[in-house]
Parts: sequence; structure tokens; C-alpha cells
Amino acid sequence: MHRVAISSTGLFTPPEIITNEELVEAFNAFAELENAKYADEIAAGKRAALTASNVEFIEKASGIKRRYVMNKSGVLDPRRMRPLFTPRPDTDISMMAEIGVKAAQEALERAGKTADDVDGLICAAANMQRPYPAMGVEIQTALGIKGYAFDMNVACSSATFGLEMAVNAVRTGSARAILVVSPEITSAHLAWKDRDCHFIFGDVCTAVLVERLDLAPPGSFEVLGTRLLSSFSNNIRNNHGFMSRAEDRDPDDRDQLFRQEGRKVFKEVCPMAAEHIAGHLASVNLDAQGVRRFWLHQANLAMNQLISRKLLGRDATLDDAPVILDEFANTASAGSIIAFHRNNTDFAVGDVGVICSFGAGYSIGSVIVKKT
Ligand SMILES: CC(C)(COP(=O)(O)OP(=O)(O)OC[C@H]1O[C@@H](n2cnc3c(N)ncnc32)[C@H](O)[C@@H]1OP(=O)(O)O)[C@@H](O)C(=O)NCCC(=O)NCCS
Repeated sequence: MHRVAISSTGLFTPPEIITNEELVEAFNAFAELENAKYADEIAAGKRAALTASNVEFIEKASGIKRRYVMNKSGVLDPRRMRPLFTPRPDTDISMMAEIGVKAAQEALERAGKTADDVDGLICAAANMQRPYPAMGVEIQTALGIKGYAFDMNVACSSATFGLEMAVNAVRTGSARAILVVSPEITSAHLAWKDRDCHFIFGDVCTAVLVERLDLAPPGSFEVLGTRLLSSFSNNIRNNHGFMSRAEDRDPDDRDQLFRQEGRKVFKEVCPMAAEHIAGHLASVNLDAQGVRRFWLHQANLAMNQLISRKLLGRDATLDDAPVILDEFANTASAGSIIAFHRNNTDFAVGDVGVICSFGAGYSIGSVIVKKT
């Protein structure tokens, strides 16, 4: 068995930004158009009028101020309310693979490594652009990595579940290094016409290089342990899939997009995540007081404050549990990895941190790391 490290990370940030103000303006214009279109039904009491969204609610309820997206014009067009992507011929690299390659290249460069140092790649994301050929294989081949690649989806915990697969492969010696790439184009699954959730998500891609510790560059983060948990819940759900056409579904049907019972998720997932992290730390003879930083999933600011308060027995500072969701919104499985990517250079040798995701499934994944 080998000791394993996170050698480096990479981040691709999309070119366009939507602020809460722009988002709310577009949603409210859409709501007015809808209400005018169905004025008779609304007046007859057969249909509920759409109510306006507002910036203050979004920021107070979630902590989100803006988000990056692959396409802004389609989302902000009140007659469209979804991104506008140009289809690419099969001979061109696909969008998910393109941003995956960019994030992975940054991770390789930061570690001073090349494709020849890597034996495999996992594309771990909440949504895949297509069923096959695997996105991972396209990214692997574009990077010039020999060996193998595959896709996996555990919603917002895809990256941490992928990390456990990568750590195990490296630990057992079946690979020297594995890249875990998480291209999250969440804008394509978000119900932009639903004011309860239209503000939640943003697009991004992260990459993590998991490597044998003895081959990793100095200053890497040794992985002390990974732990996964899942438990079925319908509170975060998307029914879209390959059988949708056989059910004669409209891709815009409400259940064919992201939906959630936000309050229930909040109430159920916070204690689960805190208990999971505490149990994982105890299994490696640590406790929360001995943790320098928690890089938590970035869905909701109050959720993270509650989880860290449960763990620490006091309010967490931004140094204890950094926040990136104000800038990025919820980026599904990439959120905790962005928090790690942006906030780890001040660690001293021996400092311990925990990466933890939580989300649909429910699924929770934690990775305990120590700076070398
Ligand atoms: C989604 C979430 C931010 C909503 O916050 P909340 O405080 O639970 O808000 P609610 O949905 O209960 O809505 C509160 C009120 O604001 C209203 N509201 C909802 N969206 C609104 C908007 N965009 N603008 C203005 N008002 C809004 C609701 O209609 C409701 O009104 P009511 O009290 O008259 O019924 C929050 O539940 C959450 O983050 N949950 C965690 C789950 C999560 O983010 N999961 C992502 C996948 S991991």
C-alpha cells in the first residue's frame, strides 16, 4: 500500500458573470410576460400569477451574489430563460471536455507534471453532456494520458466520491496518479423560470491531481482518509434521462430539471454532514478542534455556518470555513474543491483540513488531508 497525496488542483472559470440584479431583472420580465399571456386564466382563478423575485431575498436566503456561466444571453432573455449553446460537430471537442482539459492542464502545470505521469482520469460531475463515449475518455485523450478514464455521477458529491476512487487506485498501486475532473455546467439543468431556485447554480470546472506521496511535489497534501455515505432521498431530484423521450416528455417540463425541497434538505443534510465529518475525524484519531480548515460544499451560507458550528461548538470564521459561493453560487460537486483550491497556501506543515461535500442522493463525501 502506498501513501497518497493531493498534489495540486486546477480551476476553469467561465467567461461570463450574472449578478443577482441581472438575474432578478430577467426573471421579473419573464414573470410579467407570463402573467400577461395567461391574464384570463389568472383572473378566473384557474392559474396562479407568478410573483417577482428579489435580490435581497436571494442574498439573505443563500449568501449568493453572482455566478459564472458558459452563456449569459440565453439565460437573461425573458423569452428563453435557458443557456444558448451552439451544437458542435462530433469532430470538435465537446464543451464539458474542453473545460475539463483546461482545469486539468492547470492542475498538471501547478504540480510540475505531464500526461506521462498520470495513469487514469475520472470525470466526476452532477450532469454528463452525453451518455457515451464517456466524457472522461475524451478529456483523457485530449490531454494525452495513457491508461483509462470513466465517468461517474453522485450529484454534488461526485468530486469527493471520485477522489475516494482515485485515492484507492493510487493506494493499492494500480495507478501512480489519477486526475479527478469535475466540469459542472449546471446552468443547463437549472429551472431558471422557477423563482424558488433560479439563483442557486453556476458553471465551473475543477481538477484534482491525486498522486503517490513519494512521487508528489513537496508541499502536497497527504490524504489521511476518505469516507463516503449515501442515503436515498427525493428532496433533490431531476427526472431527466434517456427514457424521457419514451415518456413523451418536454425537456422543459418542471420535473426534467433540478428541483428540491430546500427547507427539508437544509434540515436533514446539516446534521448528517456534521455527524459524518466528526465520525470520520474520530476514525483517524482527530477531532474538529484539531482541524485548521473545513472546505465545505458551497450550496448555502447558513448551511455551512450551521455545520461548522455543530463541529466547532462556536461560530466559524471565514478562515475556519472559507466561502466561495458568494462569487460562484452552487457549482455542484466542484464547490468544496474550489474552496480548497482558493484557500490552502497558508497551511503550515502538519496542518490538517477536511474537504466535505453533501447533496442529492443524499450523498456525503469527506477527505481528510495533512500538509506535508
Ligand atoms: C433554497 C433555499 C436558499 C431557500 O431558502 P428558504 O429560506 O428555505 O426559503 P423558502 O423556500 O422557505 O422561501 C421563503 C419565502 O420566500 C419566498 N421566495 C422563494 N424564492 C424567492 C425569491 N427568489 N425571491 C423572493 N422570495 C422568494 C418563498 O415563496 C417563501 O414565501 P412564503 O414564506 O410566503 O411561502 C434554502 O432552502 C437552501 O439553500 N436549502 C439548502 C438546499 C440546497 O441549496 N441544496 C442545493 C443542492 S445541495
